[in-house]
Amino acid sequence: MHKTYINHSLFALTERKTILRQIPMNTIIVGAYWGDEGKGKIVDLLAADSDWVVRYNGGDNAGHTLVVEGKKVVLHVLPAGVLQGKNAAIGPDVFFNPESFLNDIKAVEESGFRIKGRIVVDERAHIIMPYHIMLDGKNEEKTGIGTTKRGIGPTAKDKAERTTDLTVSDMIHSGFREKIKQAVEAKKDELLTKGIMKSKYESEGYAQKIYETYSQHAEKIRNYAGESTYLLNDEMQNGKTLLLEGAQGSLLDIVHGTRPYVTSSNCTAGGAAANLGINTRKFKVTGIAKAYPTRVGEGPFPTELGSYENAKKEEKGKPLTAAERKKALDGDEEILGRWIRQDGAEYGATTGRPRRTGHPDFVALRYSAMINGTDEWAITKIDILGGKTFKAAVAYKKNGTTTRKFPFKLEGWQPVYGEKTYFWKAMTEQDCTEAVKKGYDALPQGMKEYIKEMVRYTKVPVSMVSISPQREITVIKDVLKRTSEYLK
Ligand code: IMP
Ligand code: MG
Repeated sequence: MHKTYINHSLFALTERKTILRQIPMNTIIVGAYWGDEGKGKIVDLLAADSDWVVRYNGGDNAGHTLVVEGKKVVLHVLPAGVLQGKNAAIGPDVFFNPESFLNDIKAVEESGFRIKGRIVVDERAHIIMPYHIMLDGKNEEKTGIGTTKRGIGPTAKDKAERTTDLTVSDMIHSGFREKIKQAVEAKKDELLTKGIMKSKYESEGYAQKIYETYSQHAEKIRNYAGESTYLLNDEMQNGKTLLLEGAQGSLLDIVHGTRPYVTSSNCTAGGAAANLGINTRKFKVTGIAKAYPTRVGEGPFPTELGSYENAKKEEKGKPLTAAERKKALDGDEEILGRWIRQDGAEYGATTGRPRRTGHPDFVALRYSAMINGTDEWAITKIDILGGKTFKAAVAYKKNGTTTRKFPFKLEGWQPVYGEKTYFWKAMTEQDCTEAVKKGYDALPQGMKEYIKEMVRYTKVPVSMVSISPQREITVIKDVLKRTSEYLK
């Protein structure tokens, strides 16, 4: 009986693989840690094989810094693939800031790229209003979550509350002025208490002012507004390929993340199914694992190097002295953290804040792989670790207890590091070019050891290793095959 079961499941697996090979590969991209994993670069790279790139969560709290053809572009709402002339959709669950969206379009055009594909903004997407942004700032003074102050939380609150929310559809149809008036009226007490409005007699004028700006945005957005659920499902039916881009990172997920230090949307692969109304069984999940974790904003971070307090005080971009580098190599964590921050340009693309940096955390990665159903990793920014020594967490401990599970309340858990200290000499430009040509074998030995441990611990192979900010310099050849061998 047992045997039959195994045979049957093996057959199903082979069959499934054959089927999977026949259908075009749709991909969901998710950040493995707390965001800023360099997803933009991978999305941009994979977009070449996709017909549509789709944003399914978050809002302009996200920021992608892209370096394409030597030009740097920062995007907050538009998915990275638009630089390649791909069609782009902004799904119904995105918190939509019309101004940021229009700025993104401007940024693309001003850097010499052209938007060639279709752009569809789902009419059901909720719009971020000026008072949401102000409320986020005011709330932040009390909560200390360290949000991006883009109004994400307050917009999400209104959306869940269901009577004061406004959508792209509201914005482009008649009655928008009235809807804003009603929303402001309903939120009057809160806006007064928080000092966003000075007097209750002001509400009509306040609403009118918002209308004047937003109705201008509406005129520009009207052409992009549409419906994405049928559209994307139909496109898939017609054999078109989709690349879904998850903003933020898995550990910032509103359900599975390190609450309350999380964002207001679903950042996991499953979120894409719910948010877009799409069958995600037809997708491969690629987890973007930056070679080292970073976190911007408050909240627990077990493998953090140094402290956030000190990171905030340090001079941005100041290079380390030779003596400091030596100290870092000898194990000074504070300096290593700073070194990674400088070399990795770890400053928020949206807020400019310094990002906290940490040793790699296999416990967090394994959890991330579990909650996303990650099929493969794309490792980004591994070049930044070249020439540095570092460790990787393989468990957490607290009050005499050790665990390999990612605790719901992460506060107070200390990392337990594996025995290995990783090191390899930084790759030169020539080494990089050669590695792209030759594949996995050409990567430094220390780097491969780190990758091997990560794969074995997380039980997920690697399909891409990004060794430079340039889109073209990513090692793909035979990486999946070679790292899958680690799992045998
Ligand atoms: P919010 O999304 O602005 O409400 O911020 C909530 C938390 O998520 C804060 O810790 C932010 O720093 C973090 N966060 C939001 N968006 C991003 C992102 O795109 N990258 C990294 N962190 C983010
Ligand atoms: Mg970012």
